[in-house]
Amino acid sequence: MTGHLLSIEDLDRAGIERVLDRARSFAEVAGREIKKVPALKGRTVVNLFYEASTRTSSSFELAAKRLSADVVSVRSVGSSVEKGESLKDTVQTLSAYDPAAIVIRAPFAGAAQQVAGWTDACVINAGDGKHEHPTQALLDVFTLRQRLGSLDGLEIWIVGDVLHSRVARSNILAFRRMGASVTVCGPPTLIPRQIEALGCAQRTTLDRLGEADVVYVLRMQHERMREAYVPSLREYAQRYQINLERLREGQLLMHPGPVNRGVECSGAAIDCAASLIGEQVKSGVAVRMAVLYELLVGAPALQAVA
Ligand code: NCD
Repeated sequence: MTGHLLSIEDLDRAGIERVLDRARSFAEVAGREIKKVPALKGRTVVNLFYEASTRTSSSFELAAKRLSADVVSVRSVGSSVEKGESLKDTVQTLSAYDPAAIVIRAPFAGAAQQVAGWTDACVINAGDGKHEHPTQALLDVFTLRQRLGSLDGLEIWIVGDVLHSRVARSNILAFRRMGASVTVCGPPTLIPRQIEALGCAQRTTLDRLGEADVVYVLRMQHERMREAYVPSLREYAQRYQINLERLREGQLLMHPGPVNRGVECSGAAIDCAASLIGEQVKSGVAVRMAVLYELLVGAPALQAVA
C-alpha cells in the first residue's frame, strides 16, 4: 500500500511540483500517435462516481487507460446504488477485484476519507461535496505553469459561487502554496464565513478586478442550493458575470467547467483568446496520469500522505 490523495493539504509545494513535473512528461505522451505507456499494466483502477461528471470522469478513465491499467467505471445511476446498496458495501464489493486505486466522487464532505478506511486500494478524491477537489487544483496549477512558467507573485481572483465550491477550497490552497495571492469575489451570500482563514482576501464587487492576472470563474452550483442566494440570475449576471467588457487586456480566464453560458461567464468570454478553459480540460488527463503514477508506482511526494 502506498498513500492516498484526499486533499491538497496533503501536499507541500515540493510535492505539487513533483506531480506537475511528472505530468509534463505525460503531456508529451499525449502528443504522440500512440498515447499509451505500460506503467500500470496488469493493475486495476476503479472509478466510482456518485455525482454528475463529464470532464473528471472521462479524464480519469483516459488517464488510467493511457497508463495501460484495467479500468472499471461505476456510476451510481444504473448500479446497485440505485437498489439501496450503501457506499461502504459498494466499495467493499469492488475491492474484491483487488484494485490498485479507487477514484471516488460523492456528494458529501469526507467521502474519500471514509472510503480510504474501507479498502486497501489507494484512494483519490475526485470531489467530495463542498469540501475538496484536489486533482482539479493540480490541473489548474499545471495549466498556469504551462502558460506562465510560474505562479509566484500572481494575483488570482476566484469569482462566483465560492460557498458551494470544492474547487475554490482546493484551488485557494494550491495557488497559495505555489506563491500566488488569491482574492475571492462574489455576493456576500455566496462567500463562506471565515474563508480568510485559508489565506485569501475577499471582495463583494468586481470594482478592482483589473488587479487580477488570472480571473478564475466558478459555476453557480444550483444542485447544492436549498434556498435563494441571489435575487435572480439576471441580477447576478449584471453584477458578477465575467464578460469581455470586464476583462482587461492581458488577463487570463479560467473555469473548471461545466459553464453556465450567459450566467457567470458570457459566451464571448468563454471563447476568447484569453480563455484557458480548453487547456484546463487537456491538462486533466496528463495530471491525472501523474497522480495515478505517483501513487501506484511509488514516489515519496504522495507516499508521505497518510
Ligand atoms: C467542478 C466540480 O465538479 O466540482 N467540475 C469539475 O470537476 N470539472 C466544478 C463544478 O461542478 O462547477
